[in-house]
Amino acid sequence: MESDASGGKVWYEDTVAIVTGANKGIGYSLVKRFAELGLSVVLTARDKSKGSKAMDSLKELGLERNVYFCQLDISDSASIRSFAFWFQSRFDGFDILVNNAAVCYNPMGENSIDHAKTVINTNYYGSKLFTEAMLPFLRHSASTSRILNISSRLGTLDKLKNAKVKALLGDKETLSEERIDMVLSVFLQDVKEGRWKTQGWPEIWTDYSVSKLALNAYSQVLARRYDGVVSVNCFCPGFTQTSMTDGKGNHSADDAAEMAATIALLQPKALTTGKFYAGSTTRGDTVAIVTGANKGIGYALVKRFAELGLSVVLTARDESKGSKAMDSLKELALDHNVHLCQLDISNSASILSFVSWFRSRFDGFDILVETFCAFKAKKGKEVCGLATVEASCCKQHFYPSLY
Ligand SMILES: NC(=O)c1ccc[n+]([C@@H]2O[C@H](COP(=O)([O-])OP(=O)(O)OC[C@H]3O[C@@H](n4cnc5c(N)ncnc54)[C@H](OP(=O)(O)O)[C@@H]3O)[C@@H](O)[C@H]2O)c1
Repeated sequence: MESDASGGKVWYEDTVAIVTGANKGIGYSLVKRFAELGLSVVLTARDKSKGSKAMDSLKELGLERNVYFCQLDISDSASIRSFAFWFQSRFDGFDILVNNAAVCYNPMGENSIDHAKTVINTNYYGSKLFTEAMLPFLRHSASTSRILNISSRLGTLDKLKNAKVKALLGDKETLSEERIDMVLSVFLQDVKEGRWKTQGWPEIWTDYSVSKLALNAYSQVLARRYDGVVSVNCFCPGFTQTSMTDGKGNHSADDAAEMAATIALLQPKALTTGKFYAGSTTRGDTVAIVTGANKGIGYALVKRFAELGLSVVLTARDESKGSKAMDSLKELALDHNVHLCQLDISNSASILSFVSWFRSRFDGFDILVETFCAFKAKKGKEVCGLATVEASCCKQHFYPSLY
């Protein structure tokens, strides 16, 4: 059971999560993870027999107790209506919706737009229609109501070369569903008239990327609509071994689901909205060392890295202060991949002992953040705020915000 900083429970058995497209891949792994964490989960699948098979697998793992199955094809409004009816007759509301279901008809390395309409209708309009149909049943709580849209880095704004479309979708204050519809109809018209390659649309898996671009933009609209009431974020799992990638990828569906669960279940204190989280392709293998991390920027950065699933070494010159920081991370359920080691960077013996401790546990690190720079910034010698540190150290690993 997850608990909040005061030790109170946040996720109960009556916390209800719905996951779309959950008969296999990341969706299935996410249902499994939620079930392991003690939530009640609705596993949905468009194919009834595939959904039943997924339920059988959960049974074999002893995880089916609080998992409920219902057929749902997000591209079919009748199926959405019948799901809503089924849901209403069994539950008095839900807390978490993960829009995971998606299609992509391109094998790796190919870029056909033969199924553009289906891809847009499923990945964007399907997820949107399902969300809108279920919103009346979403329990409104600033701390526990969440929508997580499983998206893709392929659909971030930087993949667009079309300046007009970029400007239309990039202004998050004026972004609207109508504007997203307009962009999509321009795209589908470009497809129909055979000029989609020259109009500055994303170059990899173009139709899929445009569908995710729309999903990201819709997430911004929703985040604004429900600001302070429901947290709405996007998450890109990174290159994951599922049928969508012909089994290729840098990590398993279980790994991707663990990252997604971390984002979906952020502690109320750490809760965000309107963000785009991207899983690192190497995630748990990515090791970050943060010096002077028992408080302030260093501590905040360790927390952020841990939320994103990196392995982090928290260092502090005073071991007892470091232990206290570890206790705080424990209360936030973020201590899983955080390791404490005493380190006084002004003391060479301490540095040598840190190096020997590090060598005995890790085969290398990827990110080193010296918060000493931040200290110097205070003295006016060097400007190195948290944002700068995030940008310079972690750009390849995650994007704190889409816009
Ligand atoms: N794998 C990656 O590298 C990667 C990277 C970035 C983002 N993502 C995103 O991660 C999410 C999960 O993908 P995955 O990799 O786990 O792919 P996957 O194994 O192909 O799973 C996709 C799931 O969506 C379901 N689905 C498709 N159309 C549906 C519809 N109309 N209604 C309901 N369910 C439908 C599929 O059902 P069927 O079995 O019936 O087809 C399947 O359960 C997707 O949103 C994808 O875009 C994946």
